[in-house]
Amino acid sequence: MTQPIIQISNIQKSYGDKKVLKGLSLNVEEGEIYGFLGPNGAGKSTTIRILIGLTDCQSDKLKLAGLKPFPRNTDFLKQVGVVQESQNLYENFTVFENLKLFANLLELNLERVSEVMNELNLNGHKETKAKELSKGFKQRVLIARAFLHEPKILFLDEPTSGLDPIAADKVHRFIKELKKRGTTIFITSHFMEEVEELCDRVGFLRDGVIVEEGVPQDLLQKYSAKRLKDIFLEIMGEGNE
Ligand SMILES: Nc1ncnc2c1ncn2[C@@H]1O[C@H](COP(=O)(O)OP(=O)(O)O)[C@@H](O)[C@H]1O
Ligand SMILES: [Mg+2]
Repeated sequence: MTQPIIQISNIQKSYGDKKVLKGLSLNVEEGEIYGFLGPNGAGKSTTIRILIGLTDCQSDKLKLAGLKPFPRNTDFLKQVGVVQESQNLYENFTVFENLKLFANLLELNLERVSEVMNELNLNGHKETKAKELSKGFKQRVLIARAFLHEPKILFLDEPTSGLDPIAADKVHRFIKELKKRGTTIFITSHFMEEVEELCDRVGFLRDGVIVEEGVPQDLLQKYSAKRLKDIFLEIMGEGNE
């Protein structure tokens, strides 16, 4: 048996006196789409920041593709890509310049930038400044940037938040395409329909730990629920606040 590509056991993370993660454990298999679910403030983005080595934590085990994320090093950064919650492009740079900058950092040639721009239909906006792009387009540039180096693991933090259905659908299609190519995807989202459509497995984060986890279909049966949203409400909703 191959080892899970993401292995985390007993992550603890505090900000000041506030404990955000209190023993978070989960595994993700290579090629899976894992939906990481939880209410606002549950610690989803914090977890992603830990998993991509932007911040340290205490843990018993923390390995991605066999490597420790923190402190960050080049070997590790080649394995992971991330679209963070904030649309952190260089606003005064064009689409092409934004991608080129990352390509340089990752020591990729410009052909790869063209390839990715083609794939995400960004060519029409090659010379458009980031600040002039719609939210949906920006998100496509961010996904292109995260995927330039064809990372084994892609982190998507609420990738369709604020997008119209057409823009969101474009993102969904690309996620499915990446899955076909074997990319492991770790995604957070508040859209339970999207999660049902995309995710092989989901984990529910509450009070700093995973309180439920499984294949969406299995969970629907277990909870006699029609929709994942009902399970979310049952686990996180009134009475659990
Ligand atoms: N840099 C930080 N400094 C202090 N508190 C933080 C920081 N980042 C996140 N938090 C707090 O940690 C908790 C979890 O935040 P976050 O991971 O962003 O949650 P989520 O992504 O699930 O909405 C929140 O209470 C938030 O206020
Ligand atoms: Mg968040």
